[in-house]
Amino acid sequence: MEKVRIAIIGVGNMGSAHIHFVQNIPDAELAAICDIDQAKADSKRPELPEKCRIFYSTDDLFQAECVDAVIIAVPHYFHTPIAIEAFRRGLHVLCEKPIAVTKSDARKMIDAHAKRPDLRFALMFQQRTLQAHRKIKKLIDGGEFGRILRVNWIVTDWFRSQSYYDSGTWRATWSGEGGGVLLNQCPHHLDLFQWFFGLPEMVRSTVSIGKYHDIEVEDDVNTFCRFADGSTGNFITSTGEFPGTNRLEISGTRGRMVFEDNVIKFKRTEEDVCEFCRTTPESFPSMQTWDITIPFGADTGHPHQDVIANFVAAIRDPEVKLIANGEEGIRSVEFGNAMLYSGLKGVDVEIPMDTVAYDAMLQDLIRNSKHTKKTAASKTVVNMANSF
Ligand SMILES: NC(=O)c1ccc[n+]([C@@H]2O[C@H](COP(=O)([O-])OP(=O)(O)OC[C@H]3O[C@@H](n4cnc5c(N)ncnc54)[C@H](O)[C@@H]3O)[C@@H](O)[C@H]2O)c1
Repeated sequence: MEKVRIAIIGVGNMGSAHIHFVQNIPDAELAAICDIDQAKADSKRPELPEKCRIFYSTDDLFQAECVDAVIIAVPHYFHTPIAIEAFRRGLHVLCEKPIAVTKSDARKMIDAHAKRPDLRFALMFQQRTLQAHRKIKKLIDGGEFGRILRVNWIVTDWFRSQSYYDSGTWRATWSGEGGGVLLNQCPHHLDLFQWFFGLPEMVRSTVSIGKYHDIEVEDDVNTFCRFADGSTGNFITSTGEFPGTNRLEISGTRGRMVFEDNVIKFKRTEEDVCEFCRTTPESFPSMQTWDITIPFGADTGHPHQDVIANFVAAIRDPEVKLIANGEEGIRSVEFGNAMLYSGLKGVDVEIPMDTVAYDAMLQDLIRNSKHTKKTAASKTVVNMANSF
């Protein structure tokens, strides 16, 4: 097969980085970029291959029929209509996270893809490529921790400044972004959480709106989860704490794993904890444990590029499995939507959730928004090397 001709739609912070990633992949050709901001699109010319075309609307891009695949890197609400149209035009799609703002929008994208199963639909969940995350997934799937009893994930190292929120009119607004930390920073961890443990059957959250920033959406979330097998979980995230924490703890029937500071530590018990609890005659017992630091390979240093390279390989060879396929994206969106609904309404939310009620709540938030958005784009310093 010839090189896969790719268009990047949206060349803002993330799309600008993709310009370079695509050009580093031998089987890909950066054939077009597209951005409704004409000046921004034109400013990329020196970074583009000579034959790469520049478009200022997706209609013009699609009509030109000059690409095989698109990478969608525009604000989240536009992921849905652009992906649906791309599938209709017979193009493969790699969509930035989150797949969509709402579960119902994600469903529309998946339905559009279902009509063209010959096309590849991938998601930019590049954190799945990290060796530590791959190792944890392998250990869980292999039953190394026994039956999982409880998981706790504190992900509060997503510190963002007011300047960050002011850097785009769409950011941190109900109408432009559809949420805050759950929609922008945390989708990676919501995805990893469901990739590792599956979705819980119920969540209950407290959600704080603009606790640390002058924004109308959530920047601090505490969630309790209950899984179908009775195990439980806690998920805590914030963009207001510094230095913050990224600590995943798994308590299983064969001990406790802690992943923090990019080190996986496992305190393994001599025998099954629940069995020991049932059978020991002692009232205040203990059992032997082994302290293990679990090794994992070195990262390539190019997680986004690795996802794009995998997408290109999967287009060229139907046998290649995607790192994250589109259909899986609905799970993290549902998880985040359920947390937000629970926190804002003060109720337990069952999963699968009621998408009609969620969509009505979001429309109310958009309609009743009184927040005045300040922007200071010219003063803002954005370095995507520091983004995840
Ligand atoms: N995977 C990651 O690590 C990662 C990191 C940052 C951002 N993202 C995702 O990338 C997306 C974009 O975020 P960003 O920070 O680059 O935003 P941004 O505002 O910097 O850039 C978005 C660009 O899209 C353009 N655009 C808007 N609507 C368009 C349309 N209909 N057609 C063509 N262009 C359009 C804008 O003009 C802008 O240049 C978001 O969904 C975000 O969640 C992912």
